[in-house]
Amino acid sequence: MSRSLPAVCVRAPAKINLGLAVGRRQADGYHPLATVFQAVSLYEEVTATPSDEPGLTVSGPQAERVPTDSSNLALRAAHLLAEAAGVEPEVHLHLAKGVPVAGGMAGGSADAAAALVACDALWGTGMSRDQLLELGAELGSDVPFALVGQTAVGRGRGHLLSPAMSRGEYHWALGIQEQGLSTPQVYRTFDEILGGVDGEPEPDRALMQALRSGDPEAVGAALVNDLQPAALELAPHLVETLVVAEEAGALGVLVSGSGPTVAALARSQQHATTVAAAMTAAGVADDVRCAAGPVGGARLVGSSVAHEGKG
Ligand code: C5P
Repeated sequence: MSRSLPAVCVRAPAKINLGLAVGRRQADGYHPLATVFQAVSLYEEVTATPSDEPGLTVSGPQAERVPTDSSNLALRAAHLLAEAAGVEPEVHLHLAKGVPVAGGMAGGSADAAAALVACDALWGTGMSRDQLLELGAELGSDVPFALVGQTAVGRGRGHLLSPAMSRGEYHWALGIQEQGLSTPQVYRTFDEILGGVDGEPEPDRALMQALRSGDPEAVGAALVNDLQPAALELAPHLVETLVVAEEAGALGVLVSGSGPTVAALARSQQHATTVAAAMTAAGVADDVRCAAGPVGGARLVGSSVAHEGKG
């Protein structure tokens, strides 16, 4: 006898914070943000298969650095959804990683978003989009954006999203480091060296205008990340990565989110390859990738029928 098991595969994108304005630490430990997210074409792929022995496997570069215990955000997503929907979390998840681990590009959040969408499809929970966004926000500040993708302004912890007008396509060269940075540690360093200003931060106006007009040069000039000084304090060698990318003609360079990935905006896809090659040649990144944005959020890329049993 063999049993037919549907396997659902969902992919979710990485993000770059084109602008990240950070306010003073709040009583709950979080910082109020005004960020402009762009989803880019590096993806996490999550395959969910029904299983009596729930668990998690991981493949791809840096897979060995991803926890496979109950702290894994994708597993937590499956459990949270199961609890909300009143079903048993009898699922095996496989993560195929395409986003740098602990790189400031929300790879773990993309895993959680993809797991939510995959398990939702598998279990037919009938959750609304808003309910999935709420569950996403419980899991992490960047998870709701990985669900929606494209370009959006994030407020609050970064989880309150509103769509942002953006024209054109943007090409990026990404300088990746083997050694990741811890997001809480970067925020703590931010508290020590800058502290942030009181009140609600606002998204950068020049950046919003540049995105509306679809002008990559103006977008490049307006890229801004308040966490960058803290990331550079913890990883001073990133300064060289930024300089090399700039000297290779990037329109703008910055540390992505809490780092350590360096994102360099290029003039074209071909120019992104040139900037990436310059980072490799100068030995200022352990790995490089090229990506384009904006792209869509978490979506189903396949569902197949696997066979289990003695046959
Ligand atoms: O929400 P998430 O779990 O991704 O956040 C990871 C950590 O980053 C938090 O525990 C907090 O230390 C820090 N953080 C913050 N302010 C934010 C978002 C994250 O201080 N708006």
